[in-house]
Amino acid sequence: MRVYLDNAATTPVAPEVVEAMIPVLRDTFGNPSSTHSFGRNAKALLETSRRIVAKHLNCAASEIIFTSGGTEADNMAIHTAVTELGVKRIITSAIEHHAVGHTADAVSAHEKIELVLVNLDSKGNVDLEHLETLLKEAKPTLVSLMHANNEIATMIPLKRIAQMCRQYGAYFHSDTVQTMAHFPFDLSDLDIDFITCAAHKFHGPKGIGFLYANKKTKVTSFIHGGAQERGLRGGTENLAGIVGLAKAMDLAYEDVEEHQKHVFSLKSYMMDQLHALFPTVSFHGETDFDKALYTVLNVCLPATEKTSMLLFTLDLKGVAVSGGSACTSGATKGSHVLEGIHADMTRPNVRFSFSRYTTKEEIDYALQQLQQVYQHNLS
Ligand SMILES: Cc1ncc(COP(=O)(O)O)c(C=O)c1O
Repeated sequence: MRVYLDNAATTPVAPEVVEAMIPVLRDTFGNPSSTHSFGRNAKALLETSRRIVAKHLNCAASEIIFTSGGTEADNMAIHTAVTELGVKRIITSAIEHHAVGHTADAVSAHEKIELVLVNLDSKGNVDLEHLETLLKEAKPTLVSLMHANNEIATMIPLKRIAQMCRQYGAYFHSDTVQTMAHFPFDLSDLDIDFITCAAHKFHGPKGIGFLYANKKTKVTSFIHGGAQERGLRGGTENLAGIVGLAKAMDLAYEDVEEHQKHVFSLKSYMMDQLHALFPTVSFHGETDFDKALYTVLNVCLPATEKTSMLLFTLDLKGVAVSGGSACTSGATKGSHVLEGIHADMTRPNVRFSFSRYTTKEEIDYALQQLQQVYQHNLS
């Protein structure tokens, strides 16, 4: 048996998404910028897909800018805030995804922008009083805080922070890569400047995502080139990917509440079973349904002499999990997120992440293998 419990890294593409993409790859090969019928057909599909996305988020289609994924969308938000909106300070946190953290570091060094990290508690929750104190200093500011953390599941109160940013005149970007299509968004009721998406986190294809840029926030260019994406992002569009993204979003929002309940019940089941198997087990980040990303469970297991082999041994037994952010897998560096919340790094930390396709049988298999690893290899 092979069990995939690394859905925060990426998800399997839904069969319906593959079906939607095939005819585009085969038949709709025109360049959306061409004026002949082949181009016009492609353009029509592009704009239909944009409208589908906008309808799900309750925003204008013109506010959706397709990108190559979450990283590019995060880069776009941060760069344009500095180069076009006159931002002189970025407030972010120590546990952002590198798509934000490294971008903020690079932009602040290059553009001589002040970079400030907001305080966090031991679960990674933002200290809202500290944020407010920072915002009270009247400086042209971008706040960039992720909606849900991809390693420890902790979420921010998005609407509250959006209101605070408006109150103090700061721009607000939130990396919503892990929550897009997993939670409903109503952008008519959320005054935020930028949010981001990567289709491969919700059973869409890789290499496609988007930036939502509020129409009140005037930005004009990021990737220079052709006039695609209202001139903000030059380059021929990844049409099959865009159609796949829209289809994946349709599927996700068709039954988002059932999906949430199903996945959360698996997560709570796994937590209960882990408690029974390992009385000293603990969990990093938030675990409350109301405050946490229900697809992610970060487990701090008992220490053993051979803990470094844990992920490798589980992989040999067919269980794919992650020790931190998958985007750094292969690297030996510890997780900056666990470091950012001063977690116990002496014990093995395993991130299990689930999807709508995960079953209870798969969780049982993973638990069984984990138990065996502890009994045979690690004791
Ligand atoms: C929170 C978060 N932001 C950004 C990204 C980057 O997205 P992409 O892989 O589409 O560039 C990821 C991917 O792991 C993520 O989890």
